[in-house]
Amino acid sequence: MTKKHTSIGLFGFGCVGSGLYEVIQRTPTLQAEIKRIGIKDKSKKRSLPAHFFTFDKWDILNDAEINVVVELIDDADEAFAIVSEALKRGKHVVTANKKMLANHFQTLVDLARENRVSLLYEAAVGGSIPIIRTLEEYYNNDALEQIEGILNGTTNYILTKTLTENKRYDEVLKQAQELGFAESNPTMDVQAFDPKFKLILLLAHAFGMVVKPEQVFNYGIEQLGEKDILFAKQRNLAIKLVASASIVGNHIHAYVLPKFVQQTESFYGVNNEFNAVQVAAAFSDKQLLTGKGAGSFPTAAAVLSDIAALRFGYAYEYHKLYSSSASLALDNSVAVSIYLRYTDTAILEQLSFDSVSEACRSKGYNYIIGTLSLQQLMNVDLLLNKDVFVAIVNEVTEPVCAKQPQAVLAGIH
Ligand SMILES: NC(=O)c1ccc[n+]([C@@H]2O[C@H](COP(=O)([O-])OP(=O)(O)OC[C@H]3O[C@@H](n4cnc5c(N)ncnc54)[C@H](OP(=O)(O)O)[C@@H]3O)[C@@H](O)[C@H]2O)c1
Repeated sequence: MTKKHTSIGLFGFGCVGSGLYEVIQRTPTLQAEIKRIGIKDKSKKRSLPAHFFTFDKWDILNDAEINVVVELIDDADEAFAIVSEALKRGKHVVTANKKMLANHFQTLVDLARENRVSLLYEAAVGGSIPIIRTLEEYYNNDALEQIEGILNGTTNYILTKTLTENKRYDEVLKQAQELGFAESNPTMDVQAFDPKFKLILLLAHAFGMVVKPEQVFNYGIEQLGEKDILFAKQRNLAIKLVASASIVGNHIHAYVLPKFVQQTESFYGVNNEFNAVQVAAAFSDKQLLTGKGAGSFPTAAAVLSDIAALRFGYAYEYHKLYSSSASLALDNSVAVSIYLRYTDTAILEQLSFDSVSEACRSKGYNYIIGTLSLQQLMNVDLLLNKDVFVAIVNEVTEPVCAKQPQAVLAGIH
């Protein structure tokens, strides 16, 4: 951006939008001003004079003086309409809307390129953690092998509290809603759609791969039960909702699933609303970035950083997306090691385990630990039954039940 002055049209004045307003007031060196703010609800009281606000998006989109649109609304479809229009009109865009970006990734990237403007979205993944620019600028040469993240603060808060404070899942969810960590409709978080949208953005920057949300398996924590928590506690494991993408040959293996995490693993101590991203690369080995994954100021800080970057003409280059060597394909046939808690044995007839290392049947609690392909999990509707819970489990020690996989399997087949 060559203009000296940044004139911002802001859409959304909720948690992040109002945080951004304050952060900009406290950062005079940015030399940016918010000229107009687009909002929706005419009945809400606002903390700024009325002349700042508009209920008509065209007041911002048609304003030639506004050279940057910052999109921070909670409606992904309307966000797409606003962002596409802004890009077409030659305005740079900064957004935090991972759902919109994941659903329309290539269209938006193409629009930005065609109109020679920047589309930046650091705040869309990991809140305050600067992972997108790190992937773009630092890891553009080192061959990445894996990227994994705790990318949803709401579920990490719930999982931390259920394990450390002996509270039930529904009790902690209610508490999280009261504290403003969880939305009144928490589906996108607890069913792991939100971290999946973020993983899709990471896939583009880490591996140059553009995929649709429906191609990536997501399984959340809604069905987490007391027995699963006990399983974790008896073995000194934490439970984390992990988004993962790894290179296997020239394929990518990607999913979002709960995971039993051992004390020696980096994610073990990432608690409450904190997020973390671990990158494993061929030469630099493993690195962990951690920070606040949500909240007004932490998220606004990432938006602010993008606005500041526009001042020196910054745009993502998508090195991996446009490099000729990027010929990776998504592969769901790779085996994963899972813990499956179930009641109805019908589920075992639908899942064909490659191997079973542990199985337990006792009154009211059946589980099996074994390996199977991700594709298997993607095809089984019974996984959504409330008496079923699935989590990745790596190396399991000290079984609670005696190991008796053959006996259990003999009873099934
Ligand atoms: N909250 C976080 O910690 C966080 C973290 C990372 C990313 N994000 C992302 O940031 C974005 C904003 O989140 P938020 O938590 O700030 O949401 P929020 O608190 O619910 O605020 C949403 C804002 O969007 C406005 N809005 C909704 N529909 C609109 C429309 N059609 N036209 C104009 N304005 C409209 C609302 O207007 P009214 O004020 O009139 O209702 C409100 O000001 C979302 O994409 C979210 O996923 C949030």
